[in-house]
Amino acid sequence: MRFKGKVAIVTGGASGLGKATALRLASEGAVVGVADINDSAAAAAVEEIRAAGGTAEALHIDICVEEDFKTAIARMVDGYGKLDILHNNAAYTAPEAISQDTDILEIPVDIWDRIFEGTVRGTMLGCRHAILAMRPNGGGSIINTASMYGVDAFYKMPAYGVSKAAVIHLTKQVATAFGREGIRCNAVAPSMITTPLLEASIPAAFIEMNAEATLTGYLGTPEDVAQAVAWLASDEARYITGHVINVDGGSTAHLATYSDARRFYDTPAQG
Ligand SMILES: NC(=O)c1ccc[n+]([C@@H]2O[C@H](COP(=O)([O-])OP(=O)(O)OC[C@H]3O[C@@H](n4cnc5c(N)ncnc54)[C@H](O)[C@@H]3O)[C@@H](O)[C@H]2O)c1
Repeated sequence: MRFKGKVAIVTGGASGLGKATALRLASEGAVVGVADINDSAAAAAVEEIRAAGGTAEALHIDICVEEDFKTAIARMVDGYGKLDILHNNAAYTAPEAISQDTDILEIPVDIWDRIFEGTVRGTMLGCRHAILAMRPNGGGSIINTASMYGVDAFYKMPAYGVSKAAVIHLTKQVATAFGREGIRCNAVAPSMITTPLLEASIPAAFIEMNAEATLTGYLGTPEDVAQAVAWLASDEARYITGHVINVDGGSTAHLATYSDARRFYDTPAQG
């Protein structure tokens, strides 16, 4: 029960990585605000947590709307006295925007702006309002969700990748500016993780190729990311701040020729 007495909010908490974190934190004793743009899915996640004996509230947050952060965080502080943990996880991933995030010659500028603004500004707003709530209580832990596409460049999705790189820098900036006020800020950078977003936005054959490029030989699950987030949120990580943990099965650890090299060296010589 690492989080007994702690109050947490998870944005994008109704599905995928966010839902896994919400369930994990609640199962270890935290009161969890499941914040999402999808109210019915957030309510369903809250029901799941309560059915398992946890405490949770559904919160409406669209990360593009500053007022939503203010209202939702105030609700948790009024109801439970404080905020200790924010998993700042949602990104602007509207399917019509992501499908047009092809390359910088083709992407409509307004789509670039929407993805960049939604994700970077939304993550910044989460940090801003969490810090304002955590400060009076001596601090807290913020974990932003970046992506391996923000660590290394990908062939497609430039607006998504550049916005996630900005999330990584924002993480370090927040850690630097507010460390002396007890605020820790870290990020997780997942590789492909099996979630509804992944299945909706990436072709199955390409997902399989990504599994090939991991050092584990398989893709991670939302729970793999939630474990890392929970550790960063916990007091066990009290000396860890301003860092990015690549939760990626080693995808970003090796040379680009890894999959080719395995085929080259592991295929028995012909003739
Ligand atoms: N799945 C992956 O492979 C992967 C890899 C790296 C990073 N990520 C990142 O992880 C995060 C979660 O992705 P996921 O795969 O769990 O997706 P998901 O689609 O399963 O869940 C995302 C949740 O966020 C909510 N959401 C969408 N737009 C929102 C907004 N404007 N405000 C608030 N909530 C909003 C959705 O309703 C949904 O409940 C995102 O930041 C994504 O970029 C995912």
